[in-house]
Amino acid sequence: MRTLLIVGNWKMNKTASEAATFVGELSRHLSKPPTSVELVVAPPFTALESVRRVLGSESPIQLGAQNLFWETQGAYTGEISAPMLKDLGCRYVIIGHSERRTLFGERGDGIRRKIQAAFAHGLHPILCIGESLAQREAGSTNEVLSQQIHESLSSFTAETLASLTIAYEPIWAIGTGRSATTEQAVAAHQTIRAVLATTASPTIAERTKILYGGSVTTQNIAALLSSDQVDGALIGGACLDVTSFATIIQLASTTRSIGV
Ligand code: 13P
Repeated sequence: MRTLLIVGNWKMNKTASEAATFVGELSRHLSKPPTSVELVVAPPFTALESVRRVLGSESPIQLGAQNLFWETQGAYTGEISAPMLKDLGCRYVIIGHSERRTLFGERGDGIRRKIQAAFAHGLHPILCIGESLAQREAGSTNEVLSQQIHESLSSFTAETLASLTIAYEPIWAIGTGRSATTEQAVAAHQTIRAVLATTASPTIAERTKILYGGSVTTQNIAALLSSDQVDGALIGGACLDVTSFATIIQLASTTRSIGV
């Protein structure tokens, strides 16, 4: 049984001091954090240290980063490496988000190298994949997902892939208020699992958490998690407000524990 994972991707929001205040409030909202849900926040690099300090070592809220560079150190102005993130207490790192692909030209091999760096330094990569609206309307969603998995993951052994998480984020659903339906998410997750079974192994396909991301709110989280194909959510806008993020977390734990 895969436990639920809820990840807040803050994107380029909140200064270090705003971030510290936010996680302080979030911790108070979650005075009894659900044990059935694993929680991660992914602030900007500049806020990782202040968030870590507020959370302390006992918090159930874990730290993630939004990106990394594949080299360990050197003349790479503006980049951040896996060991740097590890040293700040990060456990997870989001890789290949569609905003990075679209706005910063990230592609298959670069994404593969980033995943390799995450694995090499003990970080859990969250690989983001998803189709554009044009690709969906052309009927090529499955092909796009399959290609994105192959180009980023086919060089790894099944053992290495054991700590991988995948986030299915259809581009047309990100920041648009138009979430995928539960049926659309489930169909995509089934495709991803089938591709993983052949690319890695049936065991890896069974074990890998597949999150849904794209306009997740307090209104649709329960429906999205009603299928056991959806192992959690990668949340953008709705994770920036304490009440809304805390509500999503509570709803996630309730939904799964009563097996809706
Ligand atoms: P929204 O939840 O704002 O649509 O963003 C989703 C996302 O990109 C999370 O990585």
